[in-house]
Amino acid sequence: MNHRLNIDVFALAPETAESALGLKNLPAFLRATVNPHSGGLAGAVKHYATNAASQLIIVEDDGDTAALIKRLEGLAGVVEPGRKLIVIGAVNDITIYRQIISMGVADYLLSPASIGDLSAAIERATHDPAAQPKGKVISFYGIRGGVGSSTVAHNVAWLLSTQMKMRTILVDLDLAFGTAALAFNEEPRQPLIDALLDPERLDPILLQRFMVGESDDLQILSTHGMPRSSMILSQLAIEKLVDLSRQMADIVVLDLPHYWANWVEDLLLLADETILVASLDLANLRDARNLVDLLRAKRGEEREARLVISKADMGKRSRLTVKDFTSTLSVQPLAQIPFDPTSFIESVNDGKVISEKNRKHKAALAFQRIADAVSGRPQPARRLMSWRPALKRQVAKPART
Ligand SMILES: Nc1ncnc2c1ncn2[C@@H]1O[C@H](COP(=O)(O)OP(=O)(O)OP(=O)(O)O)[C@@H](O)[C@H]1O
Ligand SMILES: [Mg+2]
Repeated sequence: MNHRLNIDVFALAPETAESALGLKNLPAFLRATVNPHSGGLAGAVKHYATNAASQLIIVEDDGDTAALIKRLEGLAGVVEPGRKLIVIGAVNDITIYRQIISMGVADYLLSPASIGDLSAAIERATHDPAAQPKGKVISFYGIRGGVGSSTVAHNVAWLLSTQMKMRTILVDLDLAFGTAALAFNEEPRQPLIDALLDPERLDPILLQRFMVGESDDLQILSTHGMPRSSMILSQLAIEKLVDLSRQMADIVVLDLPHYWANWVEDLLLLADETILVASLDLANLRDARNLVDLLRAKRGEEREARLVISKADMGKRSRLTVKDFTSTLSVQPLAQIPFDPTSFIESVNDGKVISEKNRKHKAALAFQRIADAVSGRPQPARRLMSWRPALKRQVAKPART
């Protein structure tokens, strides 16, 4: 996920202007605001004489070395300190590069700048090597209500934390009806919504007061289950919550409600991994198709959302198969969870997820497959050893006479 960035661009070449506008199509810049201006570096000097500057400024100039340096000095006189500056110039010479960098400019690129040049320069300019490493964010979203998305999220969170020993925060964003605390037999201290209504106050210490969990590896942010009248959330509050959680854990599992809002879409787009949970019926197929198309366009093919089929055996009743989903969506499901109401009801009643109650259950094996895929950890090679005795037995079996 990327931070919000406000970028002022003063391009001269039409190709540079086009590249700057194209940044918004890159997943890393979805939350950035690109403000295009005209007039290049000279235009920037005029503009900032009467306007405040954004955190990041990109200016283009077509002058020779002397003209470029003079204009940059002019710019330094009108821009507030602390802003990052990327310069695009026409002079291809290492001495000008050194001279400009020594003036405190973050980067110097040759004109016209491609979209790749710009994104790499911005990445270098804004990367803080002293910043804390941040955890991976995994969003779980049910294509239709009640498909079993929260059940998948809770089991995967349990496996990642308790079995795979990754510090995990499970954030139940179904703020009124969420069941994350219930699933682990925990009593929430304070509903998560209270933390989100006053985002200014939110910091790691306060957030910790909202967390419950049986171990340090698994901390849960959830609700008592209580609809309230004041539940309108700001996107910024959710963003801050997720960002703080990332600073406090290796993995942040987001249990999203089946609901459509800007912040939900944002979390589906920006998460490191997005898992869509569907069951096998026509309404799920239609909505999965719409959502897969939307996410494919905005997340890009390399960050494709993954599909999990829940209550898989129900397909016998709706007469839809996994193959129908695979061919319509062009996505191979990551895992299939069998439909087993008795085991799942028992697990809710006991306050223990299936993966904890019965690790050999087919559902638990499917949850493990999802946890392996999203953990980012390399998986050990399949052990062939266990097959050998069986093979030997077969070979040794005497032929019947
Ligand atoms: N594979 C399964 N087989 C049988 N029952 C299941 C299965 N997965 C989940 N359930 C049950 O289905 C119900 C809904 O599950 P869950 O709350 O996980 O769905 P959801 O998609 O998160 O729903 P919501 O739209 O309310 O957020 C629960 O009672 C749960 O125990
Ligand atoms: Mg749910």
